[in-house]
Amino acid sequence: MMKIYSLIYFSILIVISKQDSISPLHGLFYDLNQTNIYYGSINVTDGQFNIVNTLNINDVGNPKLSKYPVLPLAYDPNNDVIYISAPNNENRKPILSVINATTGLLMRMFNTIEYDIVSLQYDIFQKQLFAHIETNQENLTQIVEIDTNNGNIKQILGTIQKSKPTHISSYCPICRKYFLIAIQDNHYTYIGVNSSDGGGISWQTPIHFAPISIRFDYKTFTMYSVYINQTDQIMSLVGILNRTIGGIGQIVGTISYDSILIATQLSAFDIEQKIYYASFQADWPYSTGISTLNLNTTVQKWTFLPKSNYYSYAWFVKQFVH
Ligand SMILES: *[C@@H]1O[C@H](CO)[C@@H](O)[C@H](O)[C@H]1NC(C)=O
Ligand SMILES: *[C@@H]1O[C@H](CO)[C@@H](O)[C@H](O)[C@H]1NC(C)=O
Ligand SMILES: *[C@@H]1O[C@H](CO)[C@@H](O)[C@H](O)[C@H]1NC(C)=O
Ligand SMILES: *[C@@H]1O[C@H](CO)[C@@H](O)[C@H](O)[C@H]1NC(C)=O
Ligand SMILES: *[C@@H]1O[C@H](CO)[C@@H](O)[C@H](O)[C@H]1NC(C)=O
Ligand SMILES: *[C@@H]1O[C@H](CO)[C@@H](O)[C@H](O)[C@H]1NC(C)=O
Ligand SMILES: *[C@@H]1O[C@H](CO)[C@@H](O)[C@H](O)[C@H]1NC(C)=O
Ligand SMILES: *[C@@H]1O[C@H](CO)[C@@H](O)[C@H](O)[C@H]1NC(C)=O
Repeated sequence: MMKIYSLIYFSILIVISKQDSISPLHGLFYDLNQTNIYYGSINVTDGQFNIVNTLNINDVGNPKLSKYPVLPLAYDPNNDVIYISAPNNENRKPILSVINATTGLLMRMFNTIEYDIVSLQYDIFQKQLFAHIETNQENLTQIVEIDTNNGNIKQILGTIQKSKPTHISSYCPICRKYFLIAIQDNHYTYIGVNSSDGGGISWQTPIHFAPISIRFDYKTFTMYSVYINQTDQIMSLVGILNRTIGGIGQIVGTISYDSILIATQLSAFDIEQKIYYASFQADWPYSTGISTLNLNTTVQKWTFLPKSNYYSYAWFVKQFVH
């Protein structure tokens, strides 16, 4: 019964996924070759990969050694470069790499940050790079500004105490805030850290749902989040995080109605097209793919990625390229 149901379900998905073309998702990928990391893009319409360069884990670090499920990545559209961070394959110290976002060529590497980089954010208006970093103490992390000339910490903007960090983060270049999710005494907290005027923690609010990713739309001042409904444990949804109520104030759309296809942690956001991209995984038959949800129209579609091909470390949408 389950199999018949799944077959029907997947047939429907395949039909739905055949639609118009949208901008490609850029990112870093891997395959069965343990030493390679690939830079390229995915055509979201047909799930085909376009690899433009191969990088080596001995240069840029090995994401598989990281404690966090998503490779920290920030895109700078002014210079068309990306910043990524992965643990050094030999000593586990973080390597911060600067990669040309057209050619995928490694431009610079820094070994200046001592403890793990949890997430990276780039302020496209102020042209500043920020990071959420670990310290020598467990559950004590910091939001810092990194000097892109030498990789050094320029200033500490906020210290987050007694919290287990998560890679989940977003950024607002208008209100100049680094948003992140941490875990405190077994519940999630939503934190906003100022990146202007010397920093400071703006708020630290407990939230009563389990976010999978967050994306801030600074044009509408809306924080979107992918989550799995904790009541039914089945539906993967996108909702609007309301800090006042500490939860989802409005449900925007659905990624999946069924537990055989669940949202996973990778995501990307196209602020121009208002598209939230979320990765998903299906258990039977095993497959992975990209869910695109148009936040304006709430139209959702799935793209299944070809089997025995590439797997994803991080995604981003190229926009505002100068
Ligand atoms: C991995 O790729 C590199 C070059 O891209 C190649 O030299 C090496 O032989 C490959 N390793 C395996 C196990 O295929
Ligand atoms: C993406 O795939 C679709 C369907 O195969 C194709 O029509 C479109 O031209 C592709 N886009 C790019 C940028 O290659
Ligand atoms: C990236 O590579 C392209 C193509 O070679 C080049 O035109 C561009 O200047 C490079 N970008 C940077 C930031 O070096
Ligand atoms: C760190 O935080 C997590 C989650 O709140 C907690 O389980 C763990 O015991 C904490 N560790 C320390 C050393 O405080
Ligand atoms: C953070 O910045 C806002 C203005 O954007 C300001 O009102 C607030 O006082 C700042 N918070 C801290 C803790 O510095
Ligand atoms: C979770 O699912 C329940 C039952 O389907 C529904 O009533 C509720 O609105 C959902 N909540 C969220 C935040 O998705
Ligand atoms: C957030 O929730 C509060 C309390 O229910 C409500 O007054 C406010 O309008 C909500 N904010 C948004 C942006 O929906
Ligand atoms: C989304 O909706 C807003 C308000 O209705 C509209 O101004 C905007 O053009 C729409 N954006 C897209 C990409 O459809």
